[in-house]
Amino acid sequence: MKKTLDEHAERFSEAASTYDDEQDSAAYCMCVRDVVTHAAPTSRDTVLDLGTGTGAIAFELTSTADRVIGRDISTGMLEQAQTKANVEHVENISFAEGRFREPNIDSDTDIDIITSNFAMHHLSDDEKRDAIAVISSLEPRRFVLGDVMFFGSPNPEEPFYDPSVDDPATVGTLVDALTDAGFAITDVEFVHEQAGVLVAEQ
Ligand SMILES: C[S@@+](CC[C@H](N)C(=O)[O-])C[C@H]1O[C@@H](n2cnc3c(N)ncnc32)[C@H](O)[C@@H]1O
Repeated sequence: MKKTLDEHAERFSEAASTYDDEQDSAAYCMCVRDVVTHAAPTSRDTVLDLGTGTGAIAFELTSTADRVIGRDISTGMLEQAQTKANVEHVENISFAEGRFREPNIDSDTDIDIITSNFAMHHLSDDEKRDAIAVISSLEPRRFVLGDVMFFGSPNPEEPFYDPSVDDPATVGTLVDALTDAGFAITDVEFVHEQAGVLVAEQ
């Protein structure tokens, strides 16, 4: 991880009030669309969205899921998400502090589907592997990961990510970590040379 958890949390809290207005890149929008499409919860499913931010993925899934749980390390992002839930009277969504490797889920809560979009790339590859092991231990039937990830070699002339704060993995590294944790990869969406969506099932 290029920054500590507290530094990432503070950085996102500072950006929280304008975050939604600034997410207009084609790659981000395509990842949101593909994560939502592949998550495909039914009305009996509980979905956990990790690194939920202001809830871009989480809110999209409330119309089909039974319940959506958002977890994030940034108080500011979580406050924005909760405000949207209050204003829009969305009742089957909840937000609280939680991190990839400690998602803060009660042992009596069954998680059916886990999603994450544009968040896991803040972890180092070893930390991603640990996070994926934790995700697997929650026994979701599906994990949908949209993120900055390298399908080829990153082009230093055209940085898609910020090397001072981001630490993306290659698709191969992610696939290895997912399959080692017991997932089968059932779909891969190429969005950009440096962004995509992986669908993993167990
Ligand atoms: C670029 S935003 C993406 C938010 C949202 N998923 C979306 O698609 O708009 C990244 C989010 O990941 C959160 N984050 C970073 N590291 C995290 C960690 N270790 N555990 C949980 N959330 C984390 C940040 O606080 C931030 O809200």
